[in-house]
Amino acid sequence: MSKIIDGKLIAQNVKDNLKVKVAEFEKEYGRKITLAVVLVGENPASQVYVKNKIRATEYVGMKSLSFNLPENSTENEVSELIKSLSSDNSVDGILVQLPLPKHLDENKILALIPAEKDVDGFLAENVGNLMLGLPTTVACTPFGVLQMLKSENIDLVGKNAVVIGRSNIVGKPMAMLLLKENCTVTICHSKTQNLKEICKTADVLVAAIGRPKFVTADMVKEGAVVIDVGINRTENGLVGDVDFDAVKDIAGYISPVPGGVGPMTIAMLLENTYICAKRREN
Ligand code: GUN
Repeated sequence: MSKIIDGKLIAQNVKDNLKVKVAEFEKEYGRKITLAVVLVGENPASQVYVKNKIRATEYVGMKSLSFNLPENSTENEVSELIKSLSSDNSVDGILVQLPLPKHLDENKILALIPAEKDVDGFLAENVGNLMLGLPTTVACTPFGVLQMLKSENIDLVGKNAVVIGRSNIVGKPMAMLLLKENCTVTICHSKTQNLKEICKTADVLVAAIGRPKFVTADMVKEGAVVIDVGINRTENGLVGDVDFDAVKDIAGYISPVPGGVGPMTIAMLLENTYICAKRREN
């Protein structure tokens, strides 16, 4: 029987620590840390994420600016908003909720965000800094996974870490963070051969593939740390990438869905906003 990693509780601790730091920032610099959130269109999942992000921003004492543009906005209209937020000195962070409507070029629009306000850690400059081990903002989900591992005092040095999924938002930065922690890292993906055998070698297994219950008990080594990044909406509700009920009897640690990585992502967004604000003042 494994220990269940309570992401909700760890995220609450991160937010409560931030609350103190945010108040100190305001006292020292005489202004509120400000996060601008841009949502284009009416994707219901994005609306929920954005609402939760705004609520959490205000919870830690930051100012939240929220912009909801219509689905049929032109690239020019979205670009003009990002440009005005970029040049607004009172704005510390800019988050453009993804996915954008299909007619908009995501890369082109994200590239308008200055690296110093990139609270998502999505920009080439920040991804490059992560690769080089330079100060940066790291994508919130993998940053949250690392925070979970640290909160549980899991020793990562020299361990075999397997990341399933190679997305720019999760898989790639996750692998880089684990490498930085001195893990031996393998990235698996849809074309990987012998995926089951490779997963079975993992001391730390991070599942970020977006397929419900993809990781089954026979893929997990006894005592492994299993982190489930999946959020799959199925007929039976929200399901992770890990077959939780079967894997929990084998793993040493396991994160549930919901209540695992999800709440951490928002907490780390706020941590990134604080990091951006501090850096802009120094
Ligand atoms: N859509 C799904 N996850 C994310 C995220 O972490 N950041 C942004 N901006 N959009 C997302």
